[in-house]
Amino acid sequence: MSEIAQLQPGPRMRHGSNIGQPLTRSEGRLKVTGGATYAADNHPDGLLHAVIVPASIARGRVVSLDVAAAKAHPGVVEVMTPENRPPLAMDPYEKSNPLMFRMNLLKDDTVRYAGEPIAVVVAETLEAAKEGAILLAPRYEAERPEVTLDGDVFKPQAVGPGMPAEATKGDVEAALASAAKRVEATYETPPQYHNAMEPHAVVARFDGDKLQLDMPTQGLAMSRMRIAGLFGLKPENIHIRSPFLGGGFGSKGSVSSPEALGILAAKLTGRPVKLVLAREEMFGSVGHRGQTRQTIKLGLDETGALTAFDHLTRAATSRFDDFVEPASGVGQALYKVPALHTSHEAVRIDTGTPSFMRAPGEASGSIAFESAIDEAAFAAGMDPLAFRLKNYADVEPISDKPFSSKALKECYREGAERFGWQDRPLEPRQMRDGSGRLLGWGMGTAIFPALMFQGNARAVIRRDGSGVMEAGGHDMGQGAWTALAQIAADGLGLPMEALEFRSGTSDLPDAGVAGGSTHTATAGNAIYSAGAAVIEKLTALAVGDERSPLFGAGNVGVIARDGRLIRQDDEGVGESYADILERADLDEIEGSGQGAGDPSAQEAYAMYAHGAVFAEVAVDPDLGQMRVNRLVGAFAAGRVINPRMVESQYLGGMIWGLSFALHEKAVHDRRSGRIMNANFGEYHVPVNADLQGMEAILVAEDDPHVNPLGIKGVGEIGITGTGAAIANAVWHATGIRVRRFPIGLADLLG
Ligand code: MOS
Repeated sequence: MSEIAQLQPGPRMRHGSNIGQPLTRSEGRLKVTGGATYAADNHPDGLLHAVIVPASIARGRVVSLDVAAAKAHPGVVEVMTPENRPPLAMDPYEKSNPLMFRMNLLKDDTVRYAGEPIAVVVAETLEAAKEGAILLAPRYEAERPEVTLDGDVFKPQAVGPGMPAEATKGDVEAALASAAKRVEATYETPPQYHNAMEPHAVVARFDGDKLQLDMPTQGLAMSRMRIAGLFGLKPENIHIRSPFLGGGFGSKGSVSSPEALGILAAKLTGRPVKLVLAREEMFGSVGHRGQTRQTIKLGLDETGALTAFDHLTRAATSRFDDFVEPASGVGQALYKVPALHTSHEAVRIDTGTPSFMRAPGEASGSIAFESAIDEAAFAAGMDPLAFRLKNYADVEPISDKPFSSKALKECYREGAERFGWQDRPLEPRQMRDGSGRLLGWGMGTAIFPALMFQGNARAVIRRDGSGVMEAGGHDMGQGAWTALAQIAADGLGLPMEALEFRSGTSDLPDAGVAGGSTHTATAGNAIYSAGAAVIEKLTALAVGDERSPLFGAGNVGVIARDGRLIRQDDEGVGESYADILERADLDEIEGSGQGAGDPSAQEAYAMYAHGAVFAEVAVDPDLGQMRVNRLVGAFAAGRVINPRMVESQYLGGMIWGLSFALHEKAVHDRRSGRIMNANFGEYHVPVNADLQGMEAILVAEDDPHVNPLGIKGVGEIGITGTGAAIANAVWHATGIRVRRFPIGLADLLG
């Protein structure tokens, strides 16, 4: 084995000790002191402020805009409408891949959803821009919109990011017909809107054919390509700075209308333009999670073994695009079952296009499927955990492939022990607290695929022995600046303080998207292999040089640690990077690395992170008020890079799950198609007072197949399992099974 082979990560990883440390966020101080610069904090000289004018109808066309009145406002500089919108290099309605939004971008006067931008007002101040928008006084020709799932149904070609809409194994009809027990239920999930703390924002500035953008993005390279295509610019002439994001929720992966319109406004006026969405404008043109109606049928034999299931999702999509929430897929990998059928159908409605939002598909699918599993366990007369263990999948049901790793039994055990699950009565309405509130305990299984995209990184060791790692990564608040830097330090065999970590701008190597819970795996493996490439070169310099104490050590191998290469068989013998470069008279030495899934491993194994979530809910029997007293999640997701960040990701995901079960719902007015609660007063998300007794347990798991570093994603799994655990606890408290989410007080009042 060569020294390089021994430097490869994996169970035998020998160098570095930064991976696994619970470091605090490297940019934490900047954030809490206001020193972190977000997109909207940029004020280039000559800056203009732009606002979008959102349509107040959901379907029809704009008949008139009083542009003259708006332009007469002393602060208004320009009003952009279909009349004067600068030309684009491509039709914004075209799309070449499922990650793109189709957009109108003031191409014509049609209105296809409430909140669609129908004009942009640009002014010297934000106040003037807002006043100008009011003066436009739009008039419309409105048609009656459709915003429910009751319209014409069609079969989509694909769901989510181009996934098959249907999958089958075995004879589901026959198995359901001959089942000893059957459970059939329909669940409904509402439209939910991306509402990260930081709204979408762009500060755009043209300098000839070069474009400078301060803009939060979860996909620097993808955004740059999209903008290059729309504006006919060379990608290298577009520079995007996205050092920090105040959250993304999935909606900052694809470029959406407001960002593109902000850039168009800069082009039209020839001045830098800032466009920041107001909170209510987040409910419209930047995507959302589409509503679903899911019908699940389960068959059981006399022993409580699953014999078949059928999961059909009806999901909403827009009139003009085709994202369908892929909710039916979640059961394909969860439980041992000889026959299964999963499928989707869609209904076109007059809203913006749904898109990727916080475990797209898995979140909506999991709350329904794991509720149905709870109903099946009760029908079988079994404890929900015993039922899940009885139906434990040792291979992936849909494919019969082995799992690359699966510590779900350990998650069940550690979570249940911590929670005290063994004392749970089987029947509902059996427990009360000291003040007479009904108590219920519920659980759900969490699952999320361990995916990877393509990522790149570049590493340098400088003559003074310090290192640089460049990777165009994205910190949405999840801790990428910290976790990826830890991997970089270990990859380069350096202490953290000797490393300069560069990330968050589009001129760096494309380190993949922060989406699909893939970022640490993709960027991390790229970073680690870039480090290994540099160490390989350094090692070759040292072991081949008679003047080095490492001369001839190639056969026994070397370890890179603390800025030194040392003999593996005798750690007392070694040499610093600085000495090696000094003697070779090199200013620096560089290497690059890639991170990507291994197709042969992906062919051989099913790859998922798993978890188990346990919830205690208290319900006031008279008022229906619910409170989640305790939420314990135990998750296994391969190698943990930073336990503090990972715990925080799990807790965040569980909060999303709680939000799904009890809080979030956008309400459409059926006549106007407008969202009636496009604000944080009425679109509810959990706040600190809603959260107590939350614990996330990090279950050890070593995955030798998923990628060289053994990393699975942790960003989204926490939302799965949690929603159903809470819904199942509400049922256990009250005996009332609510199948339309979020569960509200009225659902629990007789
Ligand atoms: Mo996530 S919804 O893949 O950003």
